[in-house]
Amino acid sequence: MTRAYLGLGANLGDREASIRGALARLDATPGIRVVRQSTLRETEPVGGPPQGPYLNGVAEIDTTLPAYALLALCKACERDAGRDFDAERNAPRPLDLDVLLFGDERIDTRDLVVPHPRMHERSFVAQPLAELGVALPPAPTFPRVVHAPDEFTALAIEWTRGDCRTGLVPTMGALHEGHVSLMRRARRECDRVAATIFVNPLQFDQSADLEAYPRDLDRDLAICRDAGVDAVFAPAPASMYPEAFASHVAVGSEAEGMEGAVRAGHFAGVATVVAKLFVVARADRAYFGEKDAQQLAVVRRLAIDLGVGTEIVGCPIVRESDGLAMSSRNARLGPRDRAASTVLHRALRVARDAFREGERSAAALVASARAQLDTEPLCATEYLELRHERTLASLGDDALPDTGARMLVAARFDTDSACETRLIDNMSLAGD
Ligand code: PAF
Repeated sequence: MTRAYLGLGANLGDREASIRGALARLDATPGIRVVRQSTLRETEPVGGPPQGPYLNGVAEIDTTLPAYALLALCKACERDAGRDFDAERNAPRPLDLDVLLFGDERIDTRDLVVPHPRMHERSFVAQPLAELGVALPPAPTFPRVVHAPDEFTALAIEWTRGDCRTGLVPTMGALHEGHVSLMRRARRECDRVAATIFVNPLQFDQSADLEAYPRDLDRDLAICRDAGVDAVFAPAPASMYPEAFASHVAVGSEAEGMEGAVRAGHFAGVATVVAKLFVVARADRAYFGEKDAQQLAVVRRLAIDLGVGTEIVGCPIVRESDGLAMSSRNARLGPRDRAASTVLHRALRVARDAFREGERSAAALVASARAQLDTEPLCATEYLELRHERTLASLGDDALPDTGARMLVAARFDTDSACETRLIDNMSLAGD
């Protein structure tokens, strides 16, 4: 016999009658006895569209059923009361039954998580439980932070066993809105979302750059929590690369030229850490920003070649209101160079507009963007190239096709100071 607690709620129709009807049905079910219930109290809705107040309470039950059978019965009660399961999240409903506690079992699956992860934050659940004298288990911390690779793998396995579709957002921290957009997309598409925060030494060719990379785990964790990330994997360098570490992923033509030409070993370092993260995380999907278009092409290649079983999802660039692509490096720009840096977006747009007006000569498009870059004396352009949209293969000098061309640019700013900043940006000529 297991003692369980159910959250009760309703804000459509005869709220009290629906709740009482469900409790009578549960009590009449073999293997369930409703022991007692809290008073029902009126509460304001949390989230969702504008809607009326709820009637909420908690019921204590004893049951011989397994947790899943109890959940299935609760769902049947909700459905029979007229609940629309296709409605948007937090939409009004004639009946809501949540399994809050099921003995001292811990369950983390797609359909059922007990103890209920959010019950501490919800006074409409916490107060009725207190009224019944039920002590809440310690509140879980969000996101869960895992440092050891094998612990993270164990969590990933637990999620997979629970039939959860899992999304991974690899990052090096110093999170900004661009990362948040990846996390939110993963949140929409997956049952569980993990982010990784690891400043990967293998992808830095200069130790000063590695040292200067901003690190603020507490700030990053707060951002992950707000974006709905379930777990963060933040390993120490020694656990990713123990002393005897000797194997590296060799990268192909995607890594040639552009970033690959100026940052020796960078993409091999990225590919090695990403492959390790894929092995550790076993995610169904991994989310990468299109701002690092060459990195995305390298990772897509790697995922195919190594058969990692993780689907790679490229996500659009997120820009500041003046067009500058979001990057952890933007914070390093002084005010003059920050203002000057918008030239990158302007130059890409000039080429894109010309393309949309019918220009198909690669040389002419590059020249139009170059002319725009040259208007900004603080911008030291490193490369400006037209490549194939996804593979980043060279497009040659022939007239461009109507779709599938991407322009990529890299430039240095603050070149007269000791800490110059390198920025990259890109744009699909047909899209964006
Ligand atoms: O894009 C990044 O932040 C990093 O290159 C990545 C993919 C997390 C690998 O370290």
